[in-house]
Amino acid sequence: ESTTEVDVAGIEPGQSIKAIFRKQPLFVKRLTAAEIADANSVPLSDLREPQTLAERTSEGNEDILITMGVCTHLGCVPLGAAEGENKGEYGGYFCPCHGSHYDTAGRIRKGPAPTNLEVPEYTFTSETTVVVG
Ligand code: FES
Repeated sequence: ESTTEVDVAGIEPGQSIKAIFRKQPLFVKRLTAAEIADANSVPLSDLREPQTLAERTSEGNEDILITMGVCTHLGCVPLGAAEGENKGEYGGYFCPCHGSHYDTAGRIRKGPAPTNLEVPEYTFTSETTVVVG
């Protein structure tokens, strides 16, 4: 199966970029300190699918959040990965199809989506290069 290489060097804190992984949208976001603090402040008992930010990122690169850009409800592409787009009530991603709100760790917080945005397998092959898949 194919892999996707992403250069994260140019991603500013608070910025997400879209890439393509196995023909599906992939979101690569560099979290700000405030977004990390926000994600870490949420009690796991508040989460539909309890996962910490650390569990959803790579050790030593906890500011880089890599998820599929595919809503886990019915597969629309959420907003929030481009400049000026609606990030939803929890500051991450928002799926406008039926109103699913994801937080800064890409975890489902409100709306019909059953699970968090999927984190694909990936590896940092240098300080700034990630190979997904
Ligand atoms: Fe995203 Fe339904 S497909 S909320």
